[in-house]
Amino acid sequence: MQNAIPISDNIFWVGVNDRQTDLFEGMWPLPRGVSYNSYLVAGEKVALMDTVKEGSMPIFLDRIANVLPNKLKIDYLVIHHLEPDHSGSIPHLKKLFPEMTIIGNQKTAEFVEHLFGITEGVQIVKEGDELDLGGKKLKFFMTPMVHWPETMMSYELESKTLFSGDAFGGFGTLDGSIFDDQLDISYYEDEILRYFSNIVGKYTGPVQKAIGKLSGIDIKTVCATHGPVWRSKPAEIIGLYDKWSKQETEPGIVIAYGSMYGNTANMMEAVAHGITDAGCSEIRVHDLSRSHLSYVIRDTWRYKGLILGSSTYDLGIFPPVDALVKLLQAKKLSNRTVGIFGSYGWSGGAVSGLRSFAETTKQNLIEPVVESRFTPGDDLLEQCRQLGYNVAKAVMQ
Ligand code: FEO
Repeated sequence: MQNAIPISDNIFWVGVNDRQTDLFEGMWPLPRGVSYNSYLVAGEKVALMDTVKEGSMPIFLDRIANVLPNKLKIDYLVIHHLEPDHSGSIPHLKKLFPEMTIIGNQKTAEFVEHLFGITEGVQIVKEGDELDLGGKKLKFFMTPMVHWPETMMSYELESKTLFSGDAFGGFGTLDGSIFDDQLDISYYEDEILRYFSNIVGKYTGPVQKAIGKLSGIDIKTVCATHGPVWRSKPAEIIGLYDKWSKQETEPGIVIAYGSMYGNTANMMEAVAHGITDAGCSEIRVHDLSRSHLSYVIRDTWRYKGLILGSSTYDLGIFPPVDALVKLLQAKKLSNRTVGIFGSYGWSGGAVSGLRSFAETTKQNLIEPVVESRFTPGDDLLEQCRQLGYNVAKAVMQ
């Protein structure tokens, strides 16, 4: 039997680790897996906080039964978020516990109907409403668009536990413990940022609003739907999400480039040398024909500098570079110090396309913009070095 893990008096983790899914949402690699965190709050009435992805029911039910060995009954299912990684088990639970009342907001009710055909047994809550479980009391906060319109949070008043949905979550299975003080958080931080930047990053405004709502609340434990349970340093994960959702950056530079025959790659090497000549050692180079975009997005979220390089393909930006630029635009990356270089054979297109990205998204474009016809000569490589140097100086100001 898989045991539930006690978090505090009568609050338990009953989630699962997923080490088998290769791609989250069908596109984001999971080399370190992911956890789907569900929690059980056992007052006189029992509330389950979210569920797990479909297919993990046996372990999930084992853990629930472990908490409730004599009375396997769930009174409420509180839904903070309905993306299927958390809601996939709802139809199975509803069959097992037909009397269970679903707690959500107006959007939740709309979505459970369209996702699962459930129209009855849904109780709607609004901002500030409370649900008394007898010995435990939940207060609800509406936090739409962190990450879907129906997302909300709940706060257990006695234990000061926040159930935050996707907010404050991250990729990575919980290896050996669920708690921040027992895990190597420095190992997890990259995957938390990759999760934030790729999944939630587009919704920085709603994340800021949610953090604002929480500002006056004494939070002892943060229980997100993914990643560690923050019982020793809850302010740390809230602080990281606050910083990332304000797009606050560190003084480093991402060089993201695509090269067909090696000319743009040679320019990249000169750019990188210019960066270290200026005294900046925080460089992350991504060959976009090979790096998965989720890692590039993560690094661009961390660092102030972004230098884009591209060959010309079909009179425009090389497609792997174009894919990055489009995604950055969709995610509303802003306030970066940007450099541009590229190459062409008989007609340009890549460099002008990248310039248009920088201008449209109102980035701080640094000169020189360097463009080579076929093979770059020494003079152009020197310009590339100068570009790297100038971007680094601007980033370190
Ligand atoms: Fe973990 Fe937006 O679902």
